[in-house]
Formats: sequence, C-alpha cells, structure tokens
Amino acid sequence: MRILFIGDIFGNPGRRALAERLSSLIDDNSVDVCIANGENAAGGRGITANLFKKLRKYGVHVITGGNHSFAIPDNDKIFMDHPAILRPHNYPPGNIGKGTTLFTLEDGRSIGVVNLQGRTFFHETLDCPFRMGKAAIKELRETTPIIFVDFHAEASSEKIALAWHVDGLATAVVGTHTHVQTADEHILPGGTAFITDVGMTGPENSCIGMKPEGVIKRFLLQTYARFEPSNSSPMINGVIIDADDDTGKALSISRIFERLSLP
Ligand SMILES: [Fe+2]
Repeated sequence: MRILFIGDIFGNPGRRALAERLSSLIDDNSVDVCIANGENAAGGRGITANLFKKLRKYGVHVITGGNHSFAIPDNDKIFMDHPAILRPHNYPPGNIGKGTTLFTLEDGRSIGVVNLQGRTFFHETLDCPFRMGKAAIKELRETTPIIFVDFHAEASSEKIALAWHVDGLATAVVGTHTHVQTADEHILPGGTAFITDVGMTGPENSCIGMKPEGVIKRFLLQTYARFEPSNSSPMINGVIIDADDDTGKALSISRIFERLSLP
C-alpha cells in the first residue's frame, strides 16, 4: 500500500496548493490512500465542516488534527458524524470526536490511523501518548497490519521516542505541528517509517504560517500582538510511505517538498 501524508495544511495558501496539485500528486505517484493534517486549515486555527468537505473533494481520505482541533465550535458536528476526521486520541474521555479510525480502500485493503498529541513543552496534562498510542495500535492491528500514526508534538525527542516505542507495531509514525520539514526520514529496525516533522503545506514566506510582523512584535515586547496568516508563496510538504500489505512493515519513506507558483 502506498500512503501519501500531507503536512499541516495552513490557511488559504495550503488549501490552494492542494486544490491545484493534490490530484496529480496522487495520480503521478499511484497513491492508494491520502492522509492529511488539517488542524490549521481555517486561517491557521481549526477546521470547519465546509473545509473538511473541500479537502475530501481534493482527494484527502482521512484528516488528522492536533492542538487546534477544538478551536472552532462548528467542529462538533463533523467530529461526531464522520469517521474520516480525527483529533488527538489522548484527550480526556468526554471530549467530542475520536482519535483512531479504520479506512478501507475500494480493493478491500484497510489502514488504521491513529492521531496523538505530545506533552513535552506543550499540553502537559493530556493522557500519556505512549501508553494510549500503543494500546490503540494493538487494537487496530487485530483488523489490519497497516497502521499510520500522526504524532502532533513540539519536542523532537518525544516524537523520536514514541516511534521507537511502537517500532514494529506501526507502519509509520510521522511528526506534525512544528511546520518545518526535517531531513531525518528513515525506517527503524523493526520496520516503522519515521520522520520528526513532515512540515507545512502552506505559505513558505512566513513564521510557521503567520506574517512575521506580529510574531516578531510578540518576541520583542513580550505582550499580545495579533497574528495574521500569510497568504504568499504556497508550498506542499509531505511524505510517501510504501508498506508491505502482509506484514505492515514500511518498505520506504520519501519526502515531498514542492513550491507552487499560483496566481
Ligand atoms: Fe499544531
């Protein structure tokens, strides 16, 4: 099975880039399933029901989330109603939505998808992504050996440690959230493909998506300054992972980094 994962879709530039390029990216690479992180799709914070539909129309099969998954109240409906959208699995019980799903291809093969959020330098009171992640993977493996994990986290060390923790159980663990693509993609000894961060599908000329002015002001003055999403220089960041259908082990992982010149 060939899996395409698209790094954090950020605002208008990220959505435009996918509208323009995703279907050819899928066709050119004979992709079987496309997963994308969509927690920044709406102006950098959250995702709406309308954008969820649009991303699905562009070719995304399953959309994962992160710390901004709960940013827009309209989320209630889409989280509850649709199996193709996830938020991190390790939020306390009682929250809307779910953190795992099973996606079945037209040819009958299936892939389990797990979405987790980190705690280091981040949301420290969440449940343990290591324990909850491994349990979720083991449960999904009762149905399919192919398991994809989006670990939305700040610290490289936490992402790397989680990948080692589930090496041989998950097909792939990919990091998201920091919006800067890392060049460390490789396959761990047990067969789990890993990259610390897939990067961002959004505006390259920005501070991880936002116009630099507001971000610099906050750093300089240490008080609130408004962040405005950048609208320029769209790019696509992603990875393609090949998985053995019988064992679920990763065969390869390669990065995608494309700049688009759009009107
Ligand atoms: Fe995030």
